[in-house]
Amino acid sequence: MDRKEFLLLAGGGFLVTSCEKSDEKPQTPASTPTPTAPGTSPVTTYLTADLTQELLTVGSNKQDAGKRAFVQRTAAGNTPSAFKHFSLTCTHAACLVSHQAANGEFHCPCHGSRFSADGMVLNGPAARPLEQYVLSIQGTTLLIKSS
Ligand code: FES
Repeated sequence: MDRKEFLLLAGGGFLVTSCEKSDEKPQTPASTPTPTAPGTSPVTTYLTADLTQELLTVGSNKQDAGKRAFVQRTAAGNTPSAFKHFSLTCTHAACLVSHQAANGEFHCPCHGSRFSADGMVLNGPAARPLEQYVLSIQGTTLLIKSS
């Protein structure tokens, strides 16, 4: 076999190989992540309360097990306006604040911010009030969600 015959055979083999590969289907990943719309995030339910058994009297309150949300009854009736509610995440650097039953304030253990019973800043370094989640009532169930 001379050089020309060798190159023809080698080139033909390459073409056969190339044609075989072009018949293959493109590979797809085993799972495809579900795209999310920009600027949206999943809704999280932080707290639920059965209003036939919980939050029955004005002043009664509840926190979720992770202590991220707080709700307190401020008036009679099972309407959203009968409750105040806050995120328990400090607006300074995201430590969890604790509710002070004696005066209703919220204190942050990290840098000393204090918030009033209405979530307003009493002293910093936090500069913004405690955030509010979304409160809804479905039948006799109170729900506090992220949005
Ligand atoms: S994180 Fe609460 S005061 Fe800094």
